Amino acid sequence: MSSSLDLSRNHAVEMDRRDGLRYFREEFLLPKKADGSGQLYFCGNSLGLQPRAARAAIGDELDAWENLAVEGHFKGQRPWLTYNDLLRGAMAELVGAKPREVVLMNTLTVNLHLMMISFYRPEGQRRKILIEQQAFPSDRYAVESQIRMHGLDPAECLVEIAPSEGARIISESTVEDYLEQNGEQVALVLWPGVHYTSGQFFDLTRIAHAAHKAGALCGFDLAHAVGNVPLDLGESTADFSVWCTYKYLNSGMGAVAGCYVNERHHNRSDLPRLHGWWGTDPEARFLMGPEFIPASGADAWQLSNPPILAMAPIRVSLDQFKRAGVGALRQKSVAMTAYLEALIQSELGDALEIITPANLERRGCQLSLRVISGRQAGRVLFQQLEAAGTIPDWREPDVIRVAPVPLYNRFEDCWLFVNQVKEFLG
Ligand SMILES: Cc1ncc(COP(=O)(O)O)c(C=O)c1O
Repeated sequence: MSSSLDLSRNHAVEMDRRDGLRYFREEFLLPKKADGSGQLYFCGNSLGLQPRAARAAIGDELDAWENLAVEGHFKGQRPWLTYNDLLRGAMAELVGAKPREVVLMNTLTVNLHLMMISFYRPEGQRRKILIEQQAFPSDRYAVESQIRMHGLDPAECLVEIAPSEGARIISESTVEDYLEQNGEQVALVLWPGVHYTSGQFFDLTRIAHAAHKAGALCGFDLAHAVGNVPLDLGESTADFSVWCTYKYLNSGMGAVAGCYVNERHHNRSDLPRLHGWWGTDPEARFLMGPEFIPASGADAWQLSNPPILAMAPIRVSLDQFKRAGVGALRQKSVAMTAYLEALIQSELGDALEIITPANLERRGCQLSLRVISGRQAGRVLFQQLEAAGTIPDWREPDVIRVAPVPLYNRFEDCWLFVNQVKEFLG
């Protein structure tokens, strides 16, 4: 793109004018600076913006609570008892799963623990969990504590795969090589869909196949992948996956998370699982019997009755994805991120390094940037951006993450960002 790149602001505005998805921006509430003008928001990778319709969706459930009280579980437009059924089909489409393989419950780390209770079963010499060296801390803490729960030592059982010498990203072949050589010791591979610091989108099918070939199970953390990149969990053959809905799915802080269990594990009586009444067969749930009769599908992993007020925004978000179309969103995402990349290379190539893979297939909308002159200069730049009301985010040790989100960001935002950085670094 860079050889024929038009650097003018007019060009960015023209691309926005031709963008068939531009009206979706109007459906979101954009944060404002103290003077009332809009901020440049590039942080959908951390917390997606509030859809205007979220307030009314929560209000609908408050109304149902007001008017129906306990009967709202069974009556009204959206009975709470079957609320998951309103969401799971559209959610399953986003991750490439069958509806009965998906359930919305709890939060990401809680779901990760529930999945590891079932799918981390160390036995004999096969007791290691494989993760990436820069795993999200919560995942690492969860894995470490699960290993300890089995009376094992993380120093022996937690294996962290590092990028090869001098690299910031991990090649799938490094994972494959490790598993080929040491696979008989690995019980579980837990891998991210999109890496939170580098923005690298892994080939999930390769990772899952390598794990299975070695005789291990495989789970994915899709926090930075869902709503950002095309996913096909069915094709990947993953055993389980977990994700949150407050990033690219715009469902609000601490929103209810997603969980996927591949159907080959449904109805297995040999799998250990933590039980609660919401995991029972709906037909038996209100018989109040002592025996746990599992629901079919991923629902059997549910524990409690779901927080409907927190789930209402997910309904709004999934509706937006359906109306926009995942294909069109991906197309815009690829184009907008490539535009931002080309602007950075052309205008800031001497000052900024882009860590995120250049291969469009191996990234989502996030670009992870490093100021070449060092961490301190990166911190200063980030603070200058913040003071100017521009919101990327900072991840230690030295990464500025910028995510132009196709539902609400504009090509002009990318242009403004690059010109602002140029001014600060100039
Ligand atoms: C990759 C990844 N995993 C796990 C988490 C933890 O999520 P939660 O606090 O919802 O459990 C996050 C949160 O940002 C994340 O980015």
